[in-house]
Amino acid sequence: MRIALGSDHAGYPLKERIKEFLLGRGHEVLDFGTTSEESTHYPLFAREVSLAVQRGEADRGILVCGTGIGMAITANKFKGVRAALCLNEYMARMSRLHNDANVLCLGDRVLGEELALSIVEVWLSTPFEGGRHQKRIELIADIESTCP
Ligand code: RB5
Repeated sequence: MRIALGSDHAGYPLKERIKEFLLGRGHEVLDFGTTSEESTHYPLFAREVSLAVQRGEADRGILVCGTGIGMAITANKFKGVRAALCLNEYMARMSRLHNDANVLCLGDRVLGEELALSIVEVWLSTPFEGGRHQKRIELIADIESTCP
Protein backbone atom coordinates (compact mmCIF):
# COMPACT_ATOMS: atom_id res chain seq x y z
CA MET A 1 0.00 0.00 0.00
CA ARG A 2 0.96 3.63 -0.37
CA ILE A 3 0.66 5.19 3.07
CA ALA A 4 0.76 8.90 3.93
CA LEU A 5 2.39 9.63 7.29
CA GLY A 6 2.38 12.76 9.40
CA SER A 7 3.07 13.87 12.96
CA ASP A 8 3.71 16.90 15.09
CA HIS A 9 6.73 17.17 17.41
CA ALA A 10 5.09 14.98 20.08
CA GLY A 11 4.42 12.21 17.58
CA TYR A 12 7.71 12.49 15.74
CA PRO A 13 9.57 9.59 17.44
CA LEU A 14 6.70 7.15 16.88
CA LYS A 15 6.15 8.35 13.31
CA GLU A 16 9.78 7.57 12.51
CA ARG A 17 9.41 4.10 14.02
CA ILE A 18 6.20 3.49 12.06
CA LYS A 19 7.92 4.61 8.85
CA GLU A 20 10.71 2.09 9.40
CA PHE A 21 8.13 -0.62 10.19
CA LEU A 22 6.11 0.10 7.03
CA LEU A 23 9.13 0.24 4.73
CA GLY A 24 10.33 -3.05 6.22
CA ARG A 25 7.02 -4.61 5.19
CA GLY A 26 7.23 -3.38 1.62
CA HIS A 27 4.81 -0.46 1.83
CA GLU A 28 5.43 2.83 0.07
CA VAL A 29 5.55 5.79 2.47
CA LEU A 30 4.74 9.44 1.75
CA ASP A 31 6.17 11.29 4.74
CA PHE A 32 4.62 14.74 5.18
CA GLY A 33 6.68 15.57 8.28
CA THR A 34 7.37 16.88 10.81
CA THR A 35 11.09 16.29 10.70
CA SER A 36 12.20 16.82 14.32
CA GLU A 37 10.96 17.23 17.90
CA GLU A 38 10.94 21.02 17.55
CA SER A 39 7.53 22.39 18.53
CA THR A 40 5.06 22.71 15.67
CA HIS A 41 1.29 22.47 15.02
CA TYR A 42 -0.55 19.18 14.40
CA PRO A 43 -3.26 20.58 12.03
CA LEU A 44 -0.60 21.35 9.41
CA PHE A 45 0.32 17.67 9.09
CA ALA A 46 -3.20 16.32 9.48
CA ARG A 47 -4.16 18.54 6.54
CA GLU A 48 -1.46 17.20 4.21
CA VAL A 49 -2.12 13.55 5.02
CA SER A 50 -5.90 14.00 4.76
CA LEU A 51 -5.59 15.67 1.37
CA ALA A 52 -3.35 12.87 0.10
CA VAL A 53 -5.97 10.30 1.11
CA GLN A 54 -8.86 12.40 -0.17
CA ARG A 55 -7.18 12.85 -3.57
CA GLY A 56 -6.32 9.16 -3.84
CA GLU A 57 -2.58 9.89 -3.77
CA ALA A 58 -2.34 7.56 -0.78
CA ASP A 59 -4.38 4.43 0.00
CA ARG A 60 -4.33 5.16 3.73
CA GLY A 61 -3.00 7.73 6.18
CA ILE A 62 -1.43 7.46 9.61
CA LEU A 63 -1.19 10.48 11.92
CA VAL A 64 0.60 10.73 15.25
CA CYS A 65 0.52 13.47 17.87
CA GLY A 66 0.74 13.39 21.67
CA THR A 67 -2.73 11.90 22.19
CA GLY A 68 -3.97 11.38 18.61
CA ILE A 69 -6.97 13.55 19.47
CA GLY A 70 -5.96 16.73 17.62
CA MET A 71 -5.05 14.71 14.55
CA ALA A 72 -8.43 12.92 14.56
CA ILE A 73 -10.39 16.14 15.04
CA THR A 74 -8.57 17.79 12.13
CA ALA A 75 -8.54 14.85 9.72
CA ASN A 76 -12.29 14.31 10.12
CA LYS A 77 -12.93 17.80 8.72
CA PHE A 78 -11.96 16.50 5.27
CA LYS A 79 -14.68 14.99 3.08
CA GLY A 80 -14.15 11.31 2.48
CA VAL A 81 -11.73 10.96 5.37
CA ARG A 82 -12.77 8.58 8.13
CA ALA A 83 -10.13 8.99 10.80
CA ALA A 84 -10.10 6.65 13.79
CA LEU A 85 -8.26 7.24 17.04
CA CYS A 86 -7.22 3.77 18.19
CA LEU A 87 -5.87 2.84 21.59
CA ASN A 88 -5.70 -0.91 21.11
CA GLU A 89 -5.89 -3.65 18.48
CA TYR A 90 -9.63 -4.17 19.02
CA MET A 91 -10.40 -0.55 18.09
CA ALA A 92 -8.06 -0.84 15.10
CA ARG A 93 -9.82 -3.97 13.87
CA MET A 94 -13.31 -2.56 14.38
CA SER A 95 -12.40 0.75 12.74
CA ARG A 96 -11.65 -1.20 9.59
CA LEU A 97 -14.39 -3.85 9.74
CA HIS A 98 -17.24 -1.49 10.58
CA ASN A 99 -16.10 2.06 9.77
CA ASP A 100 -13.79 1.52 6.79
CA ALA A 101 -11.41 3.98 8.46
CA ASN A 102 -8.88 5.31 5.98
CA VAL A 103 -6.81 7.32 8.44
CA LEU A 104 -5.39 5.93 11.70
CA CYS A 105 -4.62 8.36 14.53
CA LEU A 106 -2.23 7.40 17.32
CA GLY A 107 -0.95 9.05 20.49
CA ASP A 108 2.78 8.79 21.10
CA ARG A 109 2.28 9.84 24.74
CA VAL A 110 -0.33 7.19 25.45
CA LEU A 111 0.97 4.12 23.59
CA GLY A 112 4.15 2.15 23.92
CA GLU A 113 6.00 1.45 20.69
CA GLU A 114 5.19 -2.25 20.65
CA LEU A 115 1.45 -1.68 21.08
CA ALA A 116 1.45 1.12 18.50
CA LEU A 117 3.10 -1.09 15.88
CA SER A 118 0.72 -3.92 16.64
CA ILE A 119 -2.21 -1.51 16.14
CA VAL A 120 -0.74 -0.45 12.80
CA GLU A 121 -0.32 -4.05 11.70
CA VAL A 122 -3.90 -5.01 12.59
CA TRP A 123 -5.30 -1.83 11.02
CA LEU A 124 -3.49 -2.40 7.72
CA SER A 125 -4.40 -6.07 7.42
CA THR A 126 -8.10 -5.89 8.31
CA PRO A 127 -10.57 -5.47 5.44
CA PHE A 128 -13.86 -3.52 5.49
CA GLU A 129 -16.73 -5.89 6.18
CA GLY A 130 -19.24 -4.09 3.93
CA GLY A 131 -22.81 -5.41 4.17
CA ARG A 132 -24.88 -3.43 6.65
CA HIS A 133 -21.89 -1.21 7.37
CA GLN A 134 -21.79 0.06 3.78
CA LYS A 135 -25.14 1.84 4.27
CA ARG A 136 -23.74 3.57 7.37
CA ILE A 137 -20.70 4.79 5.47
CA GLU A 138 -23.07 6.18 2.82
CA LEU A 139 -25.03 7.97 5.55
CA ILE A 140 -21.80 9.61 6.74
CA ALA A 141 -21.14 10.75 3.16
CA ASP A 142 -24.69 12.18 2.98
CA ILE A 143 -24.03 14.17 6.14
CA GLU A 144 -20.74 15.44 4.69
CA SER A 145 -22.45 16.68 1.56
CA THR A 146 -25.41 18.35 3.30
CA CYS A 147 -23.87 19.66 6.50
CA PRO A 148 -23.62 23.45 6.84
C1 RB5 B 1 1.25 18.89 21.71
O1 RB5 B 1 1.69 19.32 22.95
C2 RB5 B 1 -0.09 18.17 21.84
O2 RB5 B 1 -1.07 19.07 22.21
C3 RB5 B 1 -0.44 17.48 20.54
O3 RB5 B 1 0.57 16.62 20.19
C4 RB5 B 1 -1.70 16.63 20.55
O4 RB5 B 1 -1.70 15.74 21.65
C5 RB5 B 1 -2.97 17.34 20.38
O5 RB5 B 1 -4.05 16.72 20.28
